[in-house]
Amino acid sequence: MRLTIIGGGGFRVPLVYRALLTTPGSEVTLFDPDGARVRVIGDVLAGMAAGRRDAPAVRIAPSLDEAVRGADFVFSAIRVGGTAGRVRDERVPLAEGVLGQETVGAGGVLYGLRTVPVALRIAARVRALAPDAWLINFTNPAGLVTEAMAAELGHRVIGICDSPVGLVRRAARAAGVDPEDVRYGYLGLNHLGWLRSLTHRGRDLLPGLLADDAALASFDEGRLFGGELLRALGALPNEYLQYYYRAPETLRAAREADETRGEFLDRRQGTFFAAAARDPGSAGALWERARREREETYGGGDRDPWDLEGGGYERVALALMHAIAEDRRTRLILNVRNGDACPALPHDAIVETVCEVDANGAHPVPCLSPGMAELGLMLQVKAAERATIEAAVRRSRPAALRALALHPLVGSADTASRILAAVAFPPL
Ligand code: G6P
Ligand code: MN
Repeated sequence: MRLTIIGGGGFRVPLVYRALLTTPGSEVTLFDPDGARVRVIGDVLAGMAAGRRDAPAVRIAPSLDEAVRGADFVFSAIRVGGTAGRVRDERVPLAEGVLGQETVGAGGVLYGLRTVPVALRIAARVRALAPDAWLINFTNPAGLVTEAMAAELGHRVIGICDSPVGLVRRAARAAGVDPEDVRYGYLGLNHLGWLRSLTHRGRDLLPGLLADDAALASFDEGRLFGGELLRALGALPNEYLQYYYRAPETLRAAREADETRGEFLDRRQGTFFAAAARDPGSAGALWERARREREETYGGGDRDPWDLEGGGYERVALALMHAIAEDRRTRLILNVRNGDACPALPHDAIVETVCEVDANGAHPVPCLSPGMAELGLMLQVKAAERATIEAAVRRSRPAALRALALHPLVGSADTASRILAAVAFPPL
């Protein structure tokens, strides 16, 4: 299996490689426009492979084209503009009095505006040079970026996120059952979805879980949203819904914090990459220490190991890759074309839902339909995502204004206009 990782200098790439150590016979190609970073990550991987005879061979490709040519799977895990870009995506909206978050609200729109052109270039090169490859998109904002790439790659691009499976597993454990032993209904957009059923041996455990305050207090989302709201919703929202259901509180907390998440990671990762470049022999140990510190910031001791391992992305991505490569029927929550899953949304809109995966790709499994309020949010956020893609592709200020002004977490054309001026969109 030939696997290419675009964004091969990313901090989380060693997690993917570690998960791959159990896939003998695979070859990994890294590509990153930042040569110094990808060499550091290459050193970390070399340390992980040391002494393991069947560890996948690693090669660093000199160009995007050489990286994707002949690949079976392409993981796209890029951060256009680096962590400095993330800092701006968070700070500019906060300065205008609206939420600044990596993927949600104005921050997500700004991140999307910068990322879509690059993602489309990658998709076009994959289509030209590896037309039979599957592209697994890790890049945030994952729903929007996957939707842009699907214009080139159709069903051969699949977006992933670790938060829905984390929610399912935490809810199953809170309900007292083995997470491996449940079926579930989950539908929404990326970072905007709801778990609406959790079935164990034919019985839906969700109503009982929502009625049980002690069980709700035992896991992150239960504590975050609280029994009163959860019972009113009749569903368990993805953790990112806190920015909608607790909008003033989360905005106030972000404005009062000394540092944004982006600033924190920019500082920590800058220190790691500089130290590892100075001393390649210690890259592995330095990476391990930095990873542990990052995980500690996710808080809660009850976090599922799927999340703690740096987001659990690699587990979702490898499960998906194996299911396709080996035609092994697997259920995963993925970002795919809607088809008939949610009739209120366009057929070709990317939604995040339960899919059955086999050698032909990921097929949405029918789920309970969301309520009117959830559908309303999905439609409004999807409209903002589509306007973001249009703005990025056409360098259109009116489309960018629409994306921001109509986003439910911005809601002001004046604010939208000032945000666009602050980031100088469209670029010259
Ligand atoms: C979760 C989300 C990702 C997001 C990440 C942020 O894993 O699913 O989409 O990128 O959290 O983590 P970070 O440590 O970068 O703030
Ligand atoms: Mn995610």
